[in-house]
Amino acid sequence: MVSFVGLELKNPIIAASASETWNVSDLLKAEKGGAGAVVTKSVGYHSKTEARFVGHPRPRYRLVNKGFSWDPALDKEGAFFSLYRLGEMQAPEEPEQYADVVRAAKEALSIPLIVSLANVWVPPYKEWAKTAKIMEKAGADALELDLSAHPMPKATDPNIVRSVRDAVSLPVIAKMMIGTEDPKEMGPQLEKAGADAICAIGTGPGLCLEVDVQAEKLALQPSFLATGGPWYRPIGLAFIAQLARSVNIPLSGVTGVVTWEDAAKYIMLGATTVQVCAAIYAHGYGTLGEIADGLARFMHAKGYSSVEAFRGKLLDQLVPDWGNLELDAPVAAAVEDRKCTVCGRCIDTCFYDAISLAPSRKSVVIDRGKCDGCGLCVSRCLVGALSMKRFD
Ligand SMILES: Cc1cc2nc3c(=O)[nH]c(=O)nc-3n(C[C@H](O)[C@H](O)[C@H](O)COP(=O)(O)O)c2cc1C
Repeated sequence: MVSFVGLELKNPIIAASASETWNVSDLLKAEKGGAGAVVTKSVGYHSKTEARFVGHPRPRYRLVNKGFSWDPALDKEGAFFSLYRLGEMQAPEEPEQYADVVRAAKEALSIPLIVSLANVWVPPYKEWAKTAKIMEKAGADALELDLSAHPMPKATDPNIVRSVRDAVSLPVIAKMMIGTEDPKEMGPQLEKAGADAICAIGTGPGLCLEVDVQAEKLALQPSFLATGGPWYRPIGLAFIAQLARSVNIPLSGVTGVVTWEDAAKYIMLGATTVQVCAAIYAHGYGTLGEIADGLARFMHAKGYSSVEAFRGKLLDQLVPDWGNLELDAPVAAAVEDRKCTVCGRCIDTCFYDAISLAPSRKSVVIDRGKCDGCGLCVSRCLVGALSMKRFD
């Protein structure tokens, strides 16, 4: 169990807002798949006002780079992919219509129902407040505000949070987008505006493109709405870590969560819940339960009785600025002869010419006088024969 904005979740894994949560049947699939809570597809007064959003481009999704990974732990088919998208289906044109979906979903689901609001190109705050009230009445357990959908490129507007906060008594989660704001500055503003939690990060506008080389075709057109997948998880993790250091409200981490390890990373950097989107497109709804189960096994093995027991555990390791870094530490690479396979990878990429073949030709030798202590050889070694050692 985990508490998040006053809701009790059976596990911290939430199905994120997207097409895969846009109707009752899909929300039920997410619950059956193992989600601790669901966030609906965003709804707002946008389709009517923005002609570009009426109609669905087809095809609009493409999974690329399946099966490719630089991390052997993830090297199972489809563990690493990008979800490219061109345009997006919309929830029904009017929030009033979507209220029927919310009512039915509330009736059918036994897990918390978070309703996502967005109002693309509709700046008046009253539209946000109006939609919020409709969804509160329809039975939403909490609201998530997709701030990425506000006029671009400047997206995050704390006034939206304030207007919704004043209109409803439900918990309000502010969802920040990639690339527009500094989380350290915007996080506190969202908190001050009344957000009960922050979700980071949502996709932002971006020209994402991929090429199918064999077919000599674009994998999809440049995406207007950006995409999901593990390729930008490091940015999501950095957002959460920076938010964790600058606000006192709970965080929900989203972007690139494919495995339970990814979920654990977000929690270790300060998130209370973790959201999953693109991985559902790639692996199906059951991936939610697999992530939740894997996380539970990890927690059991480590003796963590709750998410709180290890939440934010790694934040102390963050180096806040260069001033606190130990520079020019007396470290150099060291080799364990019995492990070395003499593959030559370390010799090839030592920019300091500090590594050479040992006279025995069965290992390598490190010239400590030349070694810069940069650590690249340790990362390049495939058999763990190299490590960094202090010599002070
Ligand atoms: C097809 C698609 C539609 C999405 N629609 C929404 C949306 O309506 N509202 C929202 O807040 N985020 C939306 N997102 C963003 C996701 O909720 C999530 O923040 C993003 O995809 C990153 O997570 P991921 O790497 O797990 O996909 C959408 C993402 C995709 C791929």
